Amino acid sequence: MNARLELEVELSGEVVELARAELASLAEGLVASISSESTRPAARIVALDVADMEVARELVARVSLAHRVVRVIGSEATAEERLLAESKRGVSASFRLRGHPTAPGSDPRIHRFAQIWKSGGGTIDLDHPARRFWVDGSDIASSRLLEEVGAVDRGAIQARRISRLPFSRPVGLDPKFARAAANLALAGPGRRIVDPFVGTGALLAEAALLGADVTGVDVDLEMIRGAARNLEAVGRPGARLLGGDSGMLAEQFTDGWFDALLTDAPYGRASGTGGEPVSDLIARVLPLWARRVRDDGRVVLVTAGGPDPLSEPWRRTVSVPVRQHRSLTREFRVYRRSVSLT
Ligand SMILES: C[S@@+](CC[C@H](N)C(=O)[O-])C[C@H]1O[C@@H](n2cnc3c(N)ncnc32)[C@H](O)[C@@H]1O
Repeated sequence: MNARLELEVELSGEVVELARAELASLAEGLVASISSESTRPAARIVALDVADMEVARELVARVSLAHRVVRVIGSEATAEERLLAESKRGVSASFRLRGHPTAPGSDPRIHRFAQIWKSGGGTIDLDHPARRFWVDGSDIASSRLLEEVGAVDRGAIQARRISRLPFSRPVGLDPKFARAAANLALAGPGRRIVDPFVGTGALLAEAALLGADVTGVDVDLEMIRGAARNLEAVGRPGARLLGGDSGMLAEQFTDGWFDALLTDAPYGRASGTGGEPVSDLIARVLPLWARRVRDDGRVVLVTAGGPDPLSEPWRRTVSVPVRQHRSLTREFRVYRRSVSLT
């Protein structure tokens, strides 16, 4: 039996409930080898264990609402042994106090670990280390040594915000939330995802960047052309984008099954529903596309609120309101089919 890696994910503070839901989704599906999950409620930290470093790095590359993923090396005593075993001539490392990244010098544990590393031949480099270690715990008894697997590249995600893309509209979803929603849909290689209200394409861009094969629909042809430009700008051209009423296109659609439906439904007057009340439109369109989702697939709906548009066997498994600005709260929902035991 292989030893598993104990990880801790440091969630970002924006919307902790959505961050937890995103991570739970990744843990369940994408990185299926994650076997256990526990939470330390006082801190915004989720503990997971994974099969190997490859899975751990994949988690870093995919997750949105987190800052950093670390692996647990061990308590003070076990860490010293492992550190000595892992230190190699010429390999640089940094040692810092978790929660105090800019004040590393004052803690005696930092000095001791740095000495151990140097005694094995390693060097210390606080600016560009090959390996980054963190000391956790307020005293020696609770001390643990952690090593950074990777920091989440939040700058790269935010570089895709709507104002930076060639086609911009006020409906554009913030890319960090779009990425979290794509993870709720378990977007990934080999998975087909449909967005029946594609708009500027923020959700499909994130799903495509995660490797999914994406299809989008919008009644507004300007949106279709704009979404195509945005997808090209993020390096994912070639999405299938269909112009027309999403309900009608769903009825005519015969090209296979989707693993997930992922959409940000119209809200208010800004979204051009041609006079159809938004809740009627969602209730008319969503069940038609949901029929094209595999039995074990999911529907991820971002909505300004309102009743559930899907009925049995679909059930809502996640529901997190996220305030976008003063006058708009969007709710992130996930629906899955109930398992039939007959
Ligand atoms: C809230 S926006 C989608 C926002 C998108 N997530 C983004 O980041 O740009 C909803 C979209 O639904 C489209 N829409 C409204 N009625 C529709 C219909 N009957 N069929 C297809 N699309 C429709 C609108 O044109 C609009 O682009």
